Amino acid sequence: MPARIFVVGSSNTDMVVVSERLPGPGETVMGGRFLCAAGGKGANQAVAAARLGGRVHFIGCLGMDAWGDAALANLAREGIDVSGVRRDPTEPSGVALILVDAAGRNLISVAPGANAALRPEHLIHLKRELTADDWLLLQLEVPFDTVEAAIEIASRNGAHILLDPAPMAQPERVCSWLKDIDVCKPNEHECELLTGVAVSDLTSARAAWAAMGVDRPHWLVVTLGEHGAVALGDEEGSFPAPQVSTVDSTAAGDCFSGALAVQLAEGASMRQAIGFACRAAALSTTRPGAQPSLPTRREVEA
Ligand code: RIB
Repeated sequence: MPARIFVVGSSNTDMVVVSERLPGPGETVMGGRFLCAAGGKGANQAVAAARLGGRVHFIGCLGMDAWGDAALANLAREGIDVSGVRRDPTEPSGVALILVDAAGRNLISVAPGANAALRPEHLIHLKRELTADDWLLLQLEVPFDTVEAAIEIASRNGAHILLDPAPMAQPERVCSWLKDIDVCKPNEHECELLTGVAVSDLTSARAAWAAMGVDRPHWLVVTLGEHGAVALGDEEGSFPAPQVSTVDSTAAGDCFSGALAVQLAEGASMRQAIGFACRAAALSTTRPGAQPSLPTRREVEA
């Protein structure tokens, strides 16, 4: 039986407008189409992993409102264990406003609401359930103290940790966690904020890897959008992304992380896992929305 994947992270409702181009500050762009979809980096990664065959637990915080009810029901419908989800009586559920242009590029602004009320003391389910066989999947859309507490629990229990440091903030603090992380998976922008090195290929990724010094993670996997990914660690390599017609790149990075976690939890090699994650992420960009775009295992393996 494959290892379990515990996601500690955010859940949002995404309000999306797709239009020909993105507006500039103070500008109004007309003619868009509206879409409301389940999102949030944590929930996206949990759903991605579940659709790809992972045994997933989601730990997060929702408001006691209709958005929170819908998000919880949605996660449960995906077969995800939601017994570690908290409902906050005072904060609204998280919301993201997303603008997408005709090339699939986006702008995202998040009102975290209840996501910001997930505190270290709420990680009871994680403490009780996480074992040395399991994977912990983390992002940075919940408070840093909570992410840090989750890393401490996993380190104590001997569990594996995959950190997707998005959205990147407080790089020095994130760097202080890296020695305890099995796989750190930034995109090229997050990697530059973390290491000071602009990464566009394997050669520049080697420089970022060196800049991480001795306290680096076991693996660094940098995603490069339509150019695929590069990996440094026990071995190194470049992984091209399949060429697809992109309509919306929202949650492509989340899909990549969820897919990577599923493969590693199944015992795949890093090379296999990254190839699989590149295919899954590319597929997700061919459909609009965050969670509606996430592919199934059958689609990725077709
Ligand atoms: O990574 C994409 C996600 O970022 C969206 O679903 C949105 O909710 C924000 O969290």
